[in-house]
Amino acid sequence: VIDWAETAADRDLASVIGHAPRVDHIGIAVRSIAAARSIYELLGMPVGAIETIEREQVRVAMVAIEGTRLELLEPTADDSTIGRFLAKRGEGLHHVAFSVQDVDAIFAQLTTAKVKLASAHVGLGAGSHRYFFVHPSAAGGVLIEIVGVASQLANLPEPA
Ligand code: CO
Repeated sequence: VIDWAETAADRDLASVIGHAPRVDHIGIAVRSIAAARSIYELLGMPVGAIETIEREQVRVAMVAIEGTRLELLEPTADDSTIGRFLAKRGEGLHHVAFSVQDVDAIFAQLTTAKVKLASAHVGLGAGSHRYFFVHPSAAGGVLIEIVGVASQLANLPEPA
């Protein structure tokens, strides 16, 4: 049920995305998950198991919060996306991820609108979720990740 679409423009958008986008997770770049986790644990937020994603040279731990999650990102190499981010910006907020009903439709819509993306295609990430990134220069300096909802996980080939 779409209850947020009040204008015609909202309804057009709703017909594409199916529901109001939600904050799926907030990505935070850290030098060490072992060091970073304690503040969340002290705040009563459970920190999940660490998963290493070799292809992205990153170790990831999810922190459970009502309605969303934090994604702690620790590089396994200095010359990696997160390693370079830490060298340039230091620890801190890295990206905000929104979940949408149809990640492919949104990718096509933004491509048509000539929005600068930081991904060449919709990729397959940790936990088999499908995602792409919008370049910060197109979003007020915020790196936005768009992820598909769980129903889109099945029967999709691994991108090269
Ligand atoms: Co993310």
